[in-house]
Amino acid sequence: MDMISMRDLDKKTIETIFERAENIEKFGYKERKGIITTAFFETSTRTKLSFQSAAKHMGMKVIDFVPETSSLVKGESFSDTIRMLDNYADAIIIRHPKDGSARLAAKLAKHPVINGGDGANEHPTQALIDIYTIKKEKGKITGLNISLFGDLGHARTMHSLLYGLAMSDVNLTLISPKGLEPNAEIIDEIKKEFKTEIVQKYEPDFTDADVIYVVRVQEERFADKYEAKKIKEQFKLELSDLKKAKSNVIVLHPLPKIDEISAEVDKSKHAKYFEQAANAVPVRIAILEYCMGME
Ligand code: CP
Repeated sequence: MDMISMRDLDKKTIETIFERAENIEKFGYKERKGIITTAFFETSTRTKLSFQSAAKHMGMKVIDFVPETSSLVKGESFSDTIRMLDNYADAIIIRHPKDGSARLAAKLAKHPVINGGDGANEHPTQALIDIYTIKKEKGKITGLNISLFGDLGHARTMHSLLYGLAMSDVNLTLISPKGLEPNAEIIDEIKKEFKTEIVQKYEPDFTDADVIYVVRVQEERFADKYEAKKIKEQFKLELSDLKKAKSNVIVLHPLPKIDEISAEVDKSKHAKYFEQAANAVPVRIAILEYCMGME
């Protein structure tokens, strides 16, 4: 079973993966046989290492494909490279800068392909970790008020997360700079498919939020660096913002974070992004079991 997009998953499958991850956290995991390969054509800390850690916890072997020292350098094609990885491993975890590359890899490979982020398109396993963390921290997901804050136009995790949250019946508030709202097609899609309640704001305001999900302002995408600097200052989460919010609001971030969250927030009871990153291991064990057809 491949995992390329949140749209490949239904509610029942997501619940099964979460139940399995919960059981893994409580009771540990089963020993499994097999080999996975991590094929990261783009930088990563969490996705690559947590998949490697998940596989090793399960007793599986990991082959790390390193583009810079591979025959890609001699000009071998992406397609032939995927065919070779498919010969040597039982599952391929891929990250690539081009939208659609994970889907192409899945078409070429006989073994499961898991999308660890393709261009600005999707990052479904991150969205599962995010939603799992919300459920774990708040005890439920349905009916929660979730504020997504920052550069919502460029973050690929948004494209998977918005769909996953809409499937989970939450109320969404989108707080972004003007022009950096999420892709309009995705908003139309989730409104139509799930009747999700969505409010758009352009100033930080977390009064009703149960969860604040922060993403980085991607300065590198701005032609006007002065404008980027101004927006970064305005779209930085400070402890004073949280003092005006619900006392039990939690703050999540897919990481890496740069300077969009103040160090004071890191030390507060609201910050749950390091726990969120730790949840990657049990959730990704459950994802590997699901995709590799392990009972
Ligand atoms: N959240 C996330 O995808 O982190 P990495 O880029 O470090 O994998």
